[in-house]
Amino acid sequence: MSHYHIKDLEQYYQAYRKSVSDPEIFWDEIASDHFLWRKKWDSVLEWDFSKPEVTWFKGAKLNITENCIDRHLTTLGDKTAILFEPNNPEEAAQHITYKELSQRVNKFANVLKQQGIKKGDRVCIYVPMIPELAISVLACARIGAIHSVVFAGFSAAALSTRINDADCKMLITADGAYRGAKTIDLKGIADQALELCPGVASVLVIKRIDAEINMKQGRDQWLAPLLVNASDQCVPEIMDAEDPLFILYTSGSTGMPKGMVHTTAGYMVYTAYTFKNAFQYTEDDVYWCTADIGWITGHSYIVYGPLANGATTVMFEGVPSYPDYGRFWDIVQKHKVSQFYTAPTAIRALAKEGTDLIDHYDLSSLKVLGSVGEPINEEAWHWYNDHIGKKKSPIVDSWWQTETGGIMITPIPYVTPTKPTYATLPFIGIQPAIMDENGKELIGNRVEGRLCIKYPWPSIARTIWGNHQRYKETYFSLFDNMYFTGDGALRDEVGYYRITGRVDDVIIVSGHNLGTAPIEDAINEHPAVAESAIVGFPHDIKGSALYGYITLKDNGESSHHDKLRKEINQLISDRIGPIAKLDKIQFTDGLPKTRSGKIMRRILRKIASNDTANLGDISTLLNPEIVQEIISSALET
Ligand code: WT7
Repeated sequence: MSHYHIKDLEQYYQAYRKSVSDPEIFWDEIASDHFLWRKKWDSVLEWDFSKPEVTWFKGAKLNITENCIDRHLTTLGDKTAILFEPNNPEEAAQHITYKELSQRVNKFANVLKQQGIKKGDRVCIYVPMIPELAISVLACARIGAIHSVVFAGFSAAALSTRINDADCKMLITADGAYRGAKTIDLKGIADQALELCPGVASVLVIKRIDAEINMKQGRDQWLAPLLVNASDQCVPEIMDAEDPLFILYTSGSTGMPKGMVHTTAGYMVYTAYTFKNAFQYTEDDVYWCTADIGWITGHSYIVYGPLANGATTVMFEGVPSYPDYGRFWDIVQKHKVSQFYTAPTAIRALAKEGTDLIDHYDLSSLKVLGSVGEPINEEAWHWYNDHIGKKKSPIVDSWWQTETGGIMITPIPYVTPTKPTYATLPFIGIQPAIMDENGKELIGNRVEGRLCIKYPWPSIARTIWGNHQRYKETYFSLFDNMYFTGDGALRDEVGYYRITGRVDDVIIVSGHNLGTAPIEDAINEHPAVAESAIVGFPHDIKGSALYGYITLKDNGESSHHDKLRKEINQLISDRIGPIAKLDKIQFTDGLPKTRSGKIMRRILRKIASNDTANLGDISTLLNPEIVQEIISSALET
């Protein structure tokens, strides 16, 4: 019996048990029955977490776009694949059918080929949330080029670092972007980035806002005229199961962002299977994930997962506050959205606006409400449940990561009873472990510790681009033979999981994963700064916001401090992007350090959260006196 569509709790447990006792048989069946293969695999799974090395469906041949597009054409050709809702509500929505998607992807793929892009080449995509973003991604996959999407809110510096790290040959971008009432000079930012990227030979520019832009002779070309002459037929490149499909960067606690590499077959199988079940997607549903395709959520659950299931997936160009805070609900009503997947930070921002606006809209089409990106707090959970779901749509609090490729711990709606703030049960095939600080697995219920996964799943990232050693150190060295997630978690009395947050130096701001080190590096570039440390502190809307402790070379006049605050935030914005700006900056005479010179962020975290009653043991500090000083001056800021 196929477990492709899980319909009740008994079936979930059956499938789960089988996925643990006979993982290879389990995944062999899922993969055989629901996808299009040019050749079947020689082995389902080979793995060794000590290397680490994982292969799924080794030897199989396929193209993911045949699975996401071509195979639907005979039955679903006229069905809407991508439903594009523009930034401006007055502009008409676009219904792109599977047939049209096929033609547009093929044309784009042929343009890429004409421009000399071949299997294995890296193509950077820096495009706002317009249909061409999804189409570029799929066009790369069609010809076996490895896409590296960079979120269009990132700065020139962040873009150039990512382009160079992956050695991209081509950049796809747009003349600009609409974002609420603003327009963004995307091409200008790209031009600035490209000054540092000698490897980029060609740039394709999509016209979106009709801006006057610079076109560099011999490098830049408008996409539209190239598409006119391109054929709408393109034979797909036949890929190996383990050929890289894409690179996507995520922040680490130190150093460069990590280019996570996802490969083809396992990623396809797992994202499709989780999409089907975590959203209980059925044929006539309209599914909407509000994320940007610049993040993993968009890759897996706007593009690949939904399209592999022949779904209608909404792409929204704008922001929740434009033209007013009713926009999300306007879109739900207008397109009769059945599944709505968003982030706690958006839920909190909308909740702050009250419920008057919501009452103007008919939200009765909603069946499933998803949440992802950070722990959802109890208040937001109830607000979402009461006011959006009207207590009848289950909340799917789905925990996963860029590295995991797909949803890992989640309720299955209408199957798993939900519990506020709990991601509930592992998805089928996922074997979590909660570990104590000494590396011992905590068995049984009512335990709390570090969250690891002890067995491979099909969509685990296979490496960090160009740095397998770092991949090993980051994820596989803290605990033997386990993937370490960087999150803390607890398992309650019935075995439900609650994610308690990051245990490393990654801070999640408005659902964006930010490493402290790159931000500190940006701050330290300021000539007046001697040293800095960033911590997160609780924030009503963003979940966490950033608090910076900064020591100046010369503390000087405090009248200069406001000017410095502005300059420092500008630097951060230039180096990383506006999302990484600090909410609070405190200038201090020093930072609490251990004897080995490590900044004790634990203490800084407590001060930032105004929780100084119990600072714990500070006796190991080199300079314990600084703590009181920081507390007193914090009260003044
Ligand atoms: C980190 C991964 C995967 C989608 C977007 C974020 C946090 C994600 C949840 C959740 C609690 C969550 C974790 C994780 N996180 N979803 N439902 N409950 N925490 O991807 O940028 O790679 O961030 O986001 O801390 O490690 P990402």
